[in-house]
Amino acid sequence: MAEPGKRPITAAILPVAGLGTRVLPATKAIPKEMLPVVDKPVVQFVVEEALAAGIERIVLVTGRGKGAIEDHFDHMFELEASLRARGKDEGLAAASDFVPQPGQVISTRQQSPLGLGHAVWCARHAVGDGAVAVLLPDVIIRAPRGCLAQMVDVYDRHGGNVVALEEVPWDVTYRYGIVETGARDGSTVEVTGMVEKPKAGEAPSNLSLVGRYILQPEVFAALASQEPGAGGEIQLTDAMASLLGKQPFHGLVYDGRQFDCGDKAGYVEANAAYGLDHPDIGPEVRKRLAALLSQA
Ligand code: UTP
Repeated sequence: MAEPGKRPITAAILPVAGLGTRVLPATKAIPKEMLPVVDKPVVQFVVEEALAAGIERIVLVTGRGKGAIEDHFDHMFELEASLRARGKDEGLAAASDFVPQPGQVISTRQQSPLGLGHAVWCARHAVGDGAVAVLLPDVIIRAPRGCLAQMVDVYDRHGGNVVALEEVPWDVTYRYGIVETGARDGSTVEVTGMVEKPKAGEAPSNLSLVGRYILQPEVFAALASQEPGAGGEIQLTDAMASLLGKQPFHGLVYDGRQFDCGDKAGYVEANAAYGLDHPDIGPEVRKRLAALLSQA
């Protein structure tokens, strides 16, 4: 195996096996990762971000009731044939334009939702022996250039591990994974510590992890022996923390902003933001939102 930092990024892991309890009842029969933002399921935004960063192997960690996600990345022959026969070219393009290359999307299974760290560990045999990217598929990031592509630039410079960071108000740091930082060079900071959901007043900074990571494969050994942490779940943050001081570890305060679609308010906000941006319906959405706000 090459030195940390000289390893290529061989796969992107998307853990999609969680229960999505925060957006119930929507997620009773639909995976939360399939909830649409305007006209695209959230997981598609995230797969597009990984492909745009040059990563060719996408590993979905799925669970029971998540089959719709695998179907979404395949052709729907009956639908496509029917749209073709009716001359519905726009619909046909929308249904078939984004289908990854054969073999590019691989699935593995997390039999019980024991936590994000456990879900990532379940992908260990499917990722090759390089570094891996991990993308939380319920977080979409609007950015002038894909967040993961921005992180790959930092990885090319520093190697090791790279996490995406965003500033949050100090009084809500207890909701997030928060990092402790060392030297800063522009938007890149050295990460010297991290804690998942610190108690109020105990956060080491107001820079939070946003759900995009580039990690060295040693993280899998750390996860294998990781005890449950915050919320009784096996936490990725705890396993990453065990790599600190042993390998280079940097954070990128990326250019852009995130929408947490696993949270009701974040999901509604994402629909408003992407609706306003949409080339076809943007002006109409703006009018309707303005009218709603003026009546509120
Ligand atoms: P979340 O904590 O946001 O997902 O994990 P959740 O557990 O589904 O959400 P709530 O709190 O019940 O609403 C972030 C990502 O990690 C995946 C989820 O599917 C989500 O995309 N995840 C989480 C797993 O794959 N397995 C787990 O055991 C936990």
